[in-house]
Amino acid sequence: MSVRPSIAFARIATPKKGTVVVLAAEGGALAGPAAALDAGGQLARAFSVADFSGKLAASLELLAPHGAAFDRLAAVGVGKPDALDARAWSRIGGAAFAAARKAQEIAILADVEGAQPSPADVAALALGVCLNAYAFDKYKTKKDNGKAAAGPARVTILCANPAAAKRAFATAQAVADGVVLARDLVNEPANVLGTLEFAAKARELEALGVKVEILTEKEMRKLRMGALLGVAQGSIRPPRLLVMRWDGGKAKDRPVVFVGKGVVFDTGGISIKPAGGMEDMKGDMGGAAAVTGLMHALAARKAKANVVGIVGLVENMPDGNAQRPGDIVTSMSGQTIEVINTDAEGRLVLADALWYANERFAPRFMVNLATLTGAIMVALGAEHAGLFSNDDELAERLLAAGRETGEKLWRMPLGPEYDKMIDSKNADMKNTGGRYAGSITAAQFLQRFVKDTPWAHLDIAGTAMGSPSSEINQSWGSGFGVRLLDRLVSDHYEG
Ligand code: BES
Ligand code: MN
Ligand code: ZN
Repeated sequence: MSVRPSIAFARIATPKKGTVVVLAAEGGALAGPAAALDAGGQLARAFSVADFSGKLAASLELLAPHGAAFDRLAAVGVGKPDALDARAWSRIGGAAFAAARKAQEIAILADVEGAQPSPADVAALALGVCLNAYAFDKYKTKKDNGKAAAGPARVTILCANPAAAKRAFATAQAVADGVVLARDLVNEPANVLGTLEFAAKARELEALGVKVEILTEKEMRKLRMGALLGVAQGSIRPPRLLVMRWDGGKAKDRPVVFVGKGVVFDTGGISIKPAGGMEDMKGDMGGAAAVTGLMHALAARKAKANVVGIVGLVENMPDGNAQRPGDIVTSMSGQTIEVINTDAEGRLVLADALWYANERFAPRFMVNLATLTGAIMVALGAEHAGLFSNDDELAERLLAAGRETGEKLWRMPLGPEYDKMIDSKNADMKNTGGRYAGSITAAQFLQRFVKDTPWAHLDIAGTAMGSPSSEINQSWGSGFGVRLLDRLVSDHYEG
């Protein structure tokens, strides 16, 4: 929805116009071609005036550099050249685009003194450019500076092997587009993006070869999804269950399954939330958005894996027909749930979605993503998503993918003592566990619906939206989970 920058790769040369960004190593060293652009030594002087030391993602800008045909010369720090991994290269790309300040014509000189970037590094840099360039501005009828919207920025990345970089970027572009889709879904307000509109967006993935099924209320009733349907019954918008399948692997391979919480708006229901900040609950489908964005990324890059994405779509509203505290619902699993608080609705949706996923697909593993609890924000803030798992190998793989992509996870405990906290006097379980350990009791609840299948739950309430802006993301919705899970799949489940 925001204008995607056009990205090209070319051999290292001296740009004749626009904004040029060069990369400086720690201490301010420039590689030869970058130093040549600063023939008069103005940039080097600016480094010392501004105390610019080339720290990773720091930047500095020089206007109308003397003797140059281009208008602006910016420098972005890369830190220690030998410490550069894919995550750092993406941050550098994001910082470079930011340093160019939305110029129309941008050249980034991807060359570092002492560390020539590989084609994969250049692609990671380009990914950072795409992610930094994203803005959710479709409802702004005027640009902030009063000008009419300009066209997309043209970014040329100057590097040693442009053909190879371009090939590597095809994959990165698929992932970037998946992240952008997830961000758009999270940022879109709930009056525009209801359950049906979300399902329609998912349907568009068919163009990439994803098989999309959309289960209706009637079909879910037949499957006895009483937990999910109980949440939905207070809204005039009907629930949907999305099943998205990408069969890129061998026919005999059991699929891996990702499940997302898709509450298009969470008022809390009859246990209604306070007014302050309730607008953020348009993002309570962040898990569903990540799963949908991930399916886009995997299909667009033709991942060699069989992957299923499942999303439970509901709206949690108070209404004459809404479910009440004290209601007891029967989930698809047959287990009964006493609804103590109608605001603990995400776990009710996931209970049926996880059970369905497990029964139908017998997956190698399941990972669910959900903006599930405020308590995870108290524990981890916006820096890490909470990871809960019944399987150490899966947990380790997720933690590693988190470190590699910068979408970081922190493992939290599960255990029978916590599980007891959701036992109910009147039913098999209740949907809240009391004051303490709110994120853990929520995870224990989900675990009752996964049997022995390797499973992980990512509580992304603190990371899916409202995170501080960074080189990688300037918008409210982050698309958290798309890069993480794309990496998990590419590291372990392809080929
Ligand atoms: N969607 C919320 C959790 C949330 C809060 C996400 C803030 C993002 C930002 C979830 O449905 C919820 O309301 N959880 C309750 C659970 C409680 C009633 C046991 C919470 O965390 O307060
Ligand atoms: Mn809620
Ligand atoms: Zn919720």
